[in-house]
Amino acid sequence: MDKFLIEGGAALRGSVAASGAKNSALPALAACLLTSEPVTLGRIPRVKDIRTMQSLLAHMGASVEEYSPDITLVHANSLPRPEAPYDVVKTMRASSLVLGPLVARTGRARVSMPGGCAIGARPIDLHMRALEQLGARIEQSHGYVEAVAPEGLRGGQIHFDRITVTGTEDILMAAVLAKGETVITNAAREPEVVDLCDLLTKMGAKIGGAGTSRITVEGVEGLHAAEHQIIADRIEAGTLLLAGATTGGDLTVTQCVPEHLAALTAKLRQAGFEVTEPTPDSLRVRPQAKLRSVDMTTEEHPGFATDLQAQYMALMTQADGIAMVTETIFENRFMHVSELNRMNANIRIDGNRAIVAGPRPLTGAQTIASDLRASASLVIAALVADGETVIDRVYHMDRGYERIEQKLESVGARIRRIQ
Ligand code: EPZ
Repeated sequence: MDKFLIEGGAALRGSVAASGAKNSALPALAACLLTSEPVTLGRIPRVKDIRTMQSLLAHMGASVEEYSPDITLVHANSLPRPEAPYDVVKTMRASSLVLGPLVARTGRARVSMPGGCAIGARPIDLHMRALEQLGARIEQSHGYVEAVAPEGLRGGQIHFDRITVTGTEDILMAAVLAKGETVITNAAREPEVVDLCDLLTKMGAKIGGAGTSRITVEGVEGLHAAEHQIIADRIEAGTLLLAGATTGGDLTVTQCVPEHLAALTAKLRQAGFEVTEPTPDSLRVRPQAKLRSVDMTTEEHPGFATDLQAQYMALMTQADGIAMVTETIFENRFMHVSELNRMNANIRIDGNRAIVAGPRPLTGAQTIASDLRASASLVIAALVADGETVIDRVYHMDRGYERIEQKLESVGARIRRIQ
């Protein structure tokens, strides 16, 4: 099982490019199921979750071909096996993204219920209820969701009780082939939802309101071939910026979308960093004043991303004062706290709030990653800790970060992968 060995103390300097967004590539790959024609996707990150989704599409009967450097062509000419088996879904709950497109394209779907994961129960009740409102009949048995719509789906009014990113994406992909109009309210506004709408529109879908909480879809008879470039990964870019900031370096992240990181940028400036945009697709961070503690609450986009909460907490261990970090999206997303405290951080959990007292001189330690973003938090802490840190189970990071150790090493981090 791979580990990272990190020697702390190096300030990150220079520039590093963001990859394509995992959380945009996943729904984009699922969207390929909606047409019998080939879809070409560029800037697909080479990460584990993507490989899982590609193998899932192939299992269903689609042909999936990869071309260098980061292009995937999916041709779902026929789909003899419209199902997502347990042994795939258990490794990636985002497999539920195939539910909507499968029912829309084939009239049926059999998708394993996603188990929970480290950060929470992560049910898909909102996905299923919305699909039923479009006319699907859904049953749950033996750990599987069986959905059928023999007469096809029909448009409807969908209101999500709570904002769900993949729930919005799932329903969008069902509605594009439904008969009539669908109106989705309380929809997710994440950039990845907008990117999916861009791809679906290129495939012939009729969508209005992408990026707002009210999205309208006019169903069409069928979708056609398209080519699409996935947007930059704002969470990877934010993680790299937080690594640069925490080490007190001078780091530029290129090939990113600054406006997608406005909430993080604002916090970094409040905390005492200078954040500039050297070019329209890059962000540069460097220290400007003494690092101050700044409270943060995670919120749906355009609020502060929950996927950057753990990484932000690592930064706050170095800040002067008390930072209150409040997690409002997931019920168990403080798995990194105990590991950070083993590195001499001073963080106390009170319900969905973590109180981070700083500054604390972190010390290198043997640590274990628990989930994708918690592992990123440990890497950032290790980069600023005194001495050597070993992070075990880095397969968690490999799910969502492409060559992260090479990217960090290229800007001065003393990090290497060991067995
Ligand atoms: C997406 O997950 C992302 N994953 C997550 O990124 C991200 O943390 C999350 O959105 C929030 O931004 C992908 O896009 C593949 P939700 P998703 O549905 O869609 C509850 C990462 O690190 N809920 O917006 O699964 C849910 O439990 C991952 O890259 C229901 O109760 O998240 C959560 O508390 C982690 N019922 C809240 O809503 C449902 O049917 C928001 O979840 C669906 C969700």
